[in-house]
This record gives sequence, structure tokens and C-alpha cells, in this order.
Amino acid sequence: MTYNDVKKTEAIGALKRLHILELKAGMYVSDSGIDWRERPYLYMREGLVTSDDEVRSIAAEGYLEVYIDPERSTVYVDAAPPDAEPAGTERHVEKPVEPKVSYAVEVKAAAEVHDAAVGYARAFMSDIRFGKLDMSPASNIVERIMRSLDNNADALHSLCRLRRTDSYTYMHCVNVSVLSSMFARYMDKGSQTTRAIGLAGLFHDLGKALVPPQILNAPRKLSDAERLVMNTHPTLGYEQIKDVPSIIPEVPQGMLHHHECYDGAGYPAGLSGHDVSEVGYIVALADIYDALTSKRVYKDGMPPQRALGIMYEMRGKALHPEMVAAFIRMLGVYPVGSVVELSDGSLCVVSAGNSDTPVKPVVIPVKDAEGAYLPKRTLDLANPDNTLSIVRSVPEATAGIDPAVVLGLPAGPPAGAP
Ligand SMILES: [Fe+2]
Repeated sequence: MTYNDVKKTEAIGALKRLHILELKAGMYVSDSGIDWRERPYLYMREGLVTSDDEVRSIAAEGYLEVYIDPERSTVYVDAAPPDAEPAGTERHVEKPVEPKVSYAVEVKAAAEVHDAAVGYARAFMSDIRFGKLDMSPASNIVERIMRSLDNNADALHSLCRLRRTDSYTYMHCVNVSVLSSMFARYMDKGSQTTRAIGLAGLFHDLGKALVPPQILNAPRKLSDAERLVMNTHPTLGYEQIKDVPSIIPEVPQGMLHHHECYDGAGYPAGLSGHDVSEVGYIVALADIYDALTSKRVYKDGMPPQRALGIMYEMRGKALHPEMVAAFIRMLGVYPVGSVVELSDGSLCVVSAGNSDTPVKPVVIPVKDAEGAYLPKRTLDLANPDNTLSIVRSVPEATAGIDPAVVLGLPAGPPAGAP
């Protein structure tokens, strides 16, 4: 059963399906019996919702929908059929790829790829200000990213999310390239297109280096005039790349389109629907996800589940509806590095996914319910002997856990490194 199939279903028996934003205190949540593997964003903890705070915390955990039993609810449940899915329902091939190499082995190689890519991003973002652009290392960098993803995508992906550095701009270029390539690979785009998507991700914000620094680095909300200047960065980047000999045309086009929106509300051209290139839509997904989950000086990174919930709300508006749904399926419910609470109150870090049972990954328990540290071991929640389950995802800062340390990730490049 796909998400769209369920969206068209008004009710299961007497139960009513509601979007999580329609959930209210006084509604009785029912366990619909739907397999969690099919519907990872369905909230199914049975019982009466007693307060608005409870509603907020359920939504904050990233759940997107819920089945309500009107008979057992103390407030009226509107039985109106759910909104139709936004247009754009063409289906894409999705191809989850099993890792060829263990996480522990690949993460070391992936760290080298990541270092090289961040170093290159630092160089091209600096050189372009002096009218120079050396594209020759780019293909090799993207090839190495693709190879690492092929070996074990969790390795490079977790480095992108968890590495600590003050070089956000350069990390972001690399992270968008990695996430875009991952998605292209998941959508079975073939190596030529995947390479173009990885390159477009790497260079997507090249034009920002040409925006005056007083606007780019303004520590305040931009004025309307400054915002217009900032919004020229897709065009500025496109202009730098479009005439490079042997460049695949999808690369500059994807860079130009990465702030266009499905509903036409984006920039620079206000394109919509099929007029926005596929590469542009894919880079936009990676760009937004990385921005939401990245830790910055002024904010903590958002847990992946929460970020994906926000992106789901953007489907059919800023984001292509089918692609955002596929992006969520690719990343799964609990990507490697997520901090989760188990049913015994312990806090754990997800160390590997289970593609057959995405809600039952492999975890490393870190603290017990009282906050005492636990001896290091791995626990496969999909093991038939296991009786524990994930109750919720927890922000790293709240948990007081650094997943990068728990997973033993190699340190990132020091600030200022080439
Ligand atoms: Fe951008």
C-alpha cells in the first residue's frame, strides 16, 4: 500500500484519518493495525489525547498522520474526507541499495572523501571571487562520493550530518552534493545523470560567493532590496558554469533552478511544475534538508524526523510532491546518527538501518532511564528476541549525547584547512 492509496481512504471502519495538524485534545488515537513498515509517519500510540502540549509533542516528533476513533473521543471529529494529494503524481522508480562494505570500514574511507570535497569547496568558493574556477577536480570528487555511497551510503551520509566544523558554507556544498547523489542513486537515475546531480549539488551556491559580503553575511534580516540581490545567486552561479567546455547542461540548469518552487513562488524566474528541471528539484530537497538538520552557531540541528516532517508539509508548494515523499522513504525514519529513546527509557544512537524494518534499526545504547552511561554494545531491534522498541526520536542537545563520538566518526577538517 502506498501513501497515496491511504490518502484516498477516508476511514478504516469507524476510524477517521486526520493529518497530525488536525489532532486536538479530546481525540482518541486508535491503533489502526496498519504495519509500521508501510506507514512510518503514522502515530499509533492508542489512547485519549489530553492536552495541547501532548499534541505539540506528537507533532514535534515528526508524525504526520493519525487514526481517530470518534466514538471514544470527547470532542467532535470532523469526518470530512482528507484533502486530495497535490497534483504531480507521476511515479518514479525507487531502488534501495544494500551496503557492500561495513559501516566501520567505509566510514574511514568516507572521511577522506569528505575532507577532499570540503577542501575543494573551500577552494572554488574562494577562487571564484578572483574570477578563477578550476573545475578539473570536480568530476573526481563526485566519482569518489558516488563510490563511497555505493559501498555504504550510511557512512558518508552520517559524516555529513554529524561532523562538527565552523566551515558551514563549504560543508553545505558537500552535503548537498552527497544528499543529491544519494537521492539520484535511490531513484535509479543512472551514472551519467547521478554525476550531473552530484555536480549541481556541489556548485549550487557558487553564486553566493559573488554576492557582496555585507549582504551575504548580514547578521540580521535582509531588507527587500538586499533580498533581491541575494536572490540573484542562482543566476550568478549559472553564468559562471554554463559555458564551461564539456559541462553537462543539466548541471548549470540545476544550479539555476534550485530555488524555484513547484507552485511557482520561487526565484529567479518563478517557474513551476514541469518547467523546473528534475535536477533543480533534487538539489532543493538536499539543500533544505541539510539546512534544517545542520548545527549552526545560532541554532541546534533539527532531528531528521522533524526536518522531514517539515519538508513533507512543503510538498506541492516549494517541493515536488512525489520527490519529497521518495526522499523521506530514502532517508527512512531514523537515519544513522539519530538519537532515540527506547521503551525501557534508555537513550541510544542509531548505528545502522534495517531496510526491511525501518522502525527497527540497529542501535548503540548510551544512557539508561536514570541517565547512567551503559557499557558499549549494539542492539538489533529487528532481532526476534528483542522486546524493546523506539518510543521517540530525541534532539541531540536534549539527550546530552554526541552521536559523532558514539559512532567513533573521524574528526572533521580543522577550520581554515585548505
Ligand atoms: Fe541557494
